[in-house]
Amino acid sequence: SSNPMATRRRTLLKVIVLGDSGVGKTSLMNQYVHNKFSLQYKATIGADFVTKELQIGDKLVTLQIWDTAGQERFQSLGAAFYRGADCCALVYDLNVAKSFDSLDNWHEEFLKQANPSDPKTFPFIVLGNKVDIDGGRSRVVSEKKAADWCASNGNIPYFETSAKEDYNVDEAFLTIAKTALANE
Ligand code: GTP
Ligand code: MG
Repeated sequence: SSNPMATRRRTLLKVIVLGDSGVGKTSLMNQYVHNKFSLQYKATIGADFVTKELQIGDKLVTLQIWDTAGQERFQSLGAAFYRGADCCALVYDLNVAKSFDSLDNWHEEFLKQANPSDPKTFPFIVLGNKVDIDGGRSRVVSEKKAADWCASNGNIPYFETSAKEDYNVDEAFLTIAKTALANE
């Protein structure tokens, strides 16, 4: 926009999505931004971003959401990529214990690379994805276990989501935007 007042109210928020391969990072973003879901798996290579504009109070916010590769051989991100992040979303699959155990590593890796000025208050969010599978009967991580992890890592907000059923996806990304904005 050529209106300087409008420009000033526009805020760009950089969000980085991390988590093991196959947990649904790309699917969550596709559902949120394009309202699309596919059962076909295509590994993310490197990193790519999508944007979405949303209105929060009197602020027009552009969420710049960075999707990353869970597969180690496709990871190629240096510290420069993480710097300037306003929020980090950690995703795991409720039905895969290892993907939950990996949260510690992703959390640590982010803090090491991004090196935020106050790691204790940096906005993270945790998404337990694929809550739709078997109507929840095949889940191996309880809501309490996940909530406990979030509580002990600085009261991180927690959402259980389904990219497939479009469950809690908007809510999760709205919380991402709000916590990132609050920390600006
Ligand atoms: P990498 O790019 O390798 O890091 O994986 P990713 O985290 O981006 O996973 P992706 O979004 O590609 O999803 C992996 C597989 O899980 C795909 O086959 C998706 O269709 C499926 N999937 C993703 N989200 C859901 C969900 O909420 N429910 C179900 N049932 N399947 C899902
Ligand atoms: Mg992906």
